[in-house]
Amino acid sequence: MHESQSQVKETINKTLPKNSVTKKAVNLMVPEQETFHINKRIRENAEDLSAALQSHMLKVFAPDARKELRQFSAGETAELLGISTSFLRKLHFDEKIPDVESTAGGRRHYSGENILEIRKILETTAKNKGTYMRGRQAGDKVQVLSFLNFKGGSGKTTSSVHTAQRLALRGYRVLAVDIDPQASMTTLFGYTPELDFIDSGTIYDAIRYEDPLPFSQIIQKTYFTGIDLAPGGLLLQEFEHETPQALRKNIQPAFYARMAAALQEVEANYDVIIFDCPPQLGYLTMSALCASTGVLITIVPNMLDVASMSQFLQMSADLLDVVSNAGANMEFDFLRFLINRYEPNDGPQQQVVAFLRQLFGDEVMIAPMLKSTAISDAGLTQQTIFEVERAQFHRNTYDRALDSLNLVNDEIELLLHKAWGR
Ligand SMILES: Nc1ncnc2c1ncn2[C@@H]1O[C@H](COP(=O)(O)OP(=O)(O)OP(=O)(O)O)[C@@H](O)[C@H]1O
Ligand SMILES: [Mg+2]
Repeated sequence: MHESQSQVKETINKTLPKNSVTKKAVNLMVPEQETFHINKRIRENAEDLSAALQSHMLKVFAPDARKELRQFSAGETAELLGISTSFLRKLHFDEKIPDVESTAGGRRHYSGENILEIRKILETTAKNKGTYMRGRQAGDKVQVLSFLNFKGGSGKTTSSVHTAQRLALRGYRVLAVDIDPQASMTTLFGYTPELDFIDSGTIYDAIRYEDPLPFSQIIQKTYFTGIDLAPGGLLLQEFEHETPQALRKNIQPAFYARMAAALQEVEANYDVIIFDCPPQLGYLTMSALCASTGVLITIVPNMLDVASMSQFLQMSADLLDVVSNAGANMEFDFLRFLINRYEPNDGPQQQVVAFLRQLFGDEVMIAPMLKSTAISDAGLTQQTIFEVERAQFHRNTYDRALDSLNLVNDEIELLLHKAWGR
């Protein structure tokens, strides 16, 4: 247990009288059998849920509970490489690229590693440098994207993980950073945060005030070719607790500069770094924002969410003013609103989208992310659309979701390239 957490416990033990709310007082109001101790009940619930989730993971995945990336068809591979399937076939025929596994019927299947290898070979003979290896080149700075909004459930995790995976499949070297204590991103990459990173191993270790570890020590390789993960977990909460005291003691770097400082050690290894932010504007979120070059605000197009976003924008601006005055770098390459869970046939949603476009113009991404059962169903088994097999779904359902995601991420790719001056 970390110091501040145990300190809080100690303070509570010392200062609060035992049984300060007596059972008698409660019993005056409700019959005895209806009362229970909320702390015990929540702990029981937590333990039951954790065990059930563990067994769910074991059922869904192999007994070692580690995920594996599926294989891709020739059609999918050609699309990811940006070539035609006939050209891909010709490359095999001419033995320009290594052979890959095929089914009994002679259909080729490509692993993530196979696709990357072919990409590298194609790049060596490409007329224009960067045709196939599309990441940054000498002099380009690493792109750091934050998926943000303090509205819970607006699709930060879903969007950030899908973007990370699509970019990785397109050949970018991606570092996914989970700065949410809920650790949904970490879970989607096949980890069980409350077991795997209970005492250490989260991003907290790299940014904490006392003896921070080098960032490289907390990076995990993932089963997904091209993506490394800096895990999140409950411990991240400590950063929120410790920051006020660190500010009083003037520990440097201050909270807003700690993420950027920690990332410096590893950023040369990546083209893109992606933050999945928690649904709150705490010190962690501010630290990620101050390390970012681009921000994507996910928004579900309904009036309540738009009203909540209005408060969020106001608060963000106020807080950013404060850290800017303290010397934080505020130079960004882009800010975009990403419409999520869009239902094209829903009249009121269309109105909200039109309203946002009128208000924010080009800052609203052209492609919205459609609401799709393919995405929510994949989420049920802690997967993304790039991991599940198309055959599991109605073909139209899957294709519509995939098309929409690809359009969104192609637009994000364009923003990256624009930032790199291409
Ligand atoms: N485009 C979509 N279509 C259908 N379901 C979606 C879509 N985007 C997200 N969801 C579902 O909505 C739920 C919330 O999404 P997600 O966890 O990504 O939101 P979040 O903003 O990260 O939430 P939090 O604020 O709690 O971190 C998930 O169950 C996810 O599967
Ligand atoms: Mg989330």
